[in-house]
Amino acid sequence: MATRRILVTSALPYANGSIHLGHLVEYIQTDIWVRFQKMHGHEVHYVCADDTHGTAIMLRAEKEGITPEALITRVLEEHKRDFAGFRVEFDNYYTTHSEETRALSSEFYRRLKAAGLIDVKPVEQFYDPVKEMFLPDRFIKGECPKCGAKDQYGDSCEVCGSTYSPTDLKNPYSVVSGAKPIRKTSDHYFFRLSDSRCKTFLQQWTQENDHLQPEARNKIREWFDQGLNDWDISRDAPYFGFEIPDAPGKYFYVWLDAPIGYFGSFKNLADRTGVDFDRFVKDGSDTELIHFIGKDILYFHALFWPAMLKFSAHRTPSHVYAHGFLTVNGEKMSKSRGTFITAESYLAQGLNPEWLRYYYAAKLGQSMEDIDMNLDDFVARVNSDLIGKYVNIASRAAGFVTKYFAGKLAPVDPVSKSTFEATAIAYGSEHLIRSAYDQREYSKAIREIMRVADAINQRWDKAKPWALAKDSTQLKAFHEICSDCLDAFRILTYYLAPVLPETAARAADLLGIPQPFLWANLRTPIVQVKEYQHLMTRVDAKQIKALVDANRETLQPAPARAAAQSATPKQEKTVAAAAEPQPISIEDFAKIDLRIVRIVNAEHVEGADKLLKLTLDVGSLGTRQVFAGIKSAYDPDTLKGRLTVMVANLAPRKMKFGMSEGMVLAASGDAPGLYLLSPDSDAEPGMKVK
Ligand code: 2FM
Ligand code: ZN
Repeated sequence: MATRRILVTSALPYANGSIHLGHLVEYIQTDIWVRFQKMHGHEVHYVCADDTHGTAIMLRAEKEGITPEALITRVLEEHKRDFAGFRVEFDNYYTTHSEETRALSSEFYRRLKAAGLIDVKPVEQFYDPVKEMFLPDRFIKGECPKCGAKDQYGDSCEVCGSTYSPTDLKNPYSVVSGAKPIRKTSDHYFFRLSDSRCKTFLQQWTQENDHLQPEARNKIREWFDQGLNDWDISRDAPYFGFEIPDAPGKYFYVWLDAPIGYFGSFKNLADRTGVDFDRFVKDGSDTELIHFIGKDILYFHALFWPAMLKFSAHRTPSHVYAHGFLTVNGEKMSKSRGTFITAESYLAQGLNPEWLRYYYAAKLGQSMEDIDMNLDDFVARVNSDLIGKYVNIASRAAGFVTKYFAGKLAPVDPVSKSTFEATAIAYGSEHLIRSAYDQREYSKAIREIMRVADAINQRWDKAKPWALAKDSTQLKAFHEICSDCLDAFRILTYYLAPVLPETAARAADLLGIPQPFLWANLRTPIVQVKEYQHLMTRVDAKQIKALVDANRETLQPAPARAAAQSATPKQEKTVAAAAEPQPISIEDFAKIDLRIVRIVNAEHVEGADKLLKLTLDVGSLGTRQVFAGIKSAYDPDTLKGRLTVMVANLAPRKMKFGMSEGMVLAASGDAPGLYLLSPDSDAEPGMKVK
């Protein structure tokens, strides 16, 4: 098979928000596809980056009292950590705020201008006279022109559902300063999408060669019918982004440099590794360029981006694959229902990332339809498929082979090949599974893999190896059935490796499968198995409940807390006045897991008035991160190294700045002042306080 050379991207997440389960649909979808292609020995470069520019990021940084650069640096690390936590393995994860993307953006602009596709036209917009900046639509609010509802955004009314333009709002005000916006005109730069060359090219490109899915092609035909408008690619200062080379005070709109950021990230990778950058991005390329995106950004990727590429001497995408949105329990993810679940909180609750990867794989197909994560179904499916069907085979067969045959497998008997029925069934599905993965029909691949797992389990049950084990005349048959099922399990492990990289690696260690997984090795049977080690635990429905609780944001103040988590002093007083302590039983007290901890690090939290971020060594319980409202009383440097006491079994709580995984104890009275508890000096981290 000829080696494919593929540059693969997932959409660049904005650098002002956390990664959540909705985002992960796309990154997991792409990562599975990339891992599958790499298993075939293809040259694949999977790149991504944070999308760092724009007004929203500029204002968010200002609100936190930090520079945009500091904000995007912090968020970049958070995003990288979250993706790594879900085993999304980019070959490069970068930032659009880079010299590579700046240089490439200038080059695109220069070429488009030379092609006569850049225009300058005056645009009238709302302007905040106090803040001295133009206001994007979502930074203007006012009364709905239809129903009069107050505080509605500039584009649509959440009360009556009507849509309008910001200039239709009654009594508009700037969300940034509260000032009444005025109208002001300035020159903007446009990419001339309405030019006949763009139209002709796009009409052809969007409809041919499966560049797009059929549903996307239909959508685009609708957009053509509405007519293609020129695209405003500039924003006036103040703006966080790249200044347009020949237009001082004008910046590239974030959506201009975002897709160029795909190439910026790849350039950064290529320069470090010696990969031929031009071969993947220049016109006439013999490689593939594949973008995975959400359906909401189809317009940018199927119209603007291919046209930008085409008329700046770059290659155009081979495919743009759009997926639908994630719903949870049949509804939009919601903060009040606790279904707006961040990647960080999922991992902090100790949930296995591969459960989610599997569940998404079992749901994903080629289409742009939304996928639903029903939380009960999630528990049932992971437990029944992964534990009950897949892991079950190894845990049953490996034990027997190590116990009775010193871990050696019976070789396939050329005479009685039929005894290797499970292996034959597993091989029989190879073609279907491979083509399903390649076509992004993961749900089809998973269905088939589980059908094979069922067949292997049935074969096992029918042969009753536990009975054969007791009959010395049946040892050969016993050995063969165990070996057959175990080798079939090995084949299943290959099939699941793109979805469950870590479990598959553990299974590979158990079975001696050469690493990395290469499809070329699929037909090499195993000869020896190690002592069985548990491969994966079941999901407990309680874990899901705790996850939802941890993500539920209420409008109420935080409930009573002993002292120093995040409650403001005002809340503490209210709570103290309202709740007279009642006697509790010793059992009630024993529910609280109090532990000695050592504060290994303490630091200020950007944008937080009262909090310090503490890193706590809890001995055998590992390390915890806790946000404590003790900034008024302690200089972080004086806390490092000291011992104190924490509640170790307080459910992790999602805060604006990250997860807080417990609470340290401090005393306070009516007068100002907070006093952290200290044990005597010989106490050690992890000791129980009883
Ligand atoms: O919609 C978004 O989240 C954008 N940040 C996606 C950008 S994708 C690409 F064009 F850079
Ligand atoms: Zn209205």
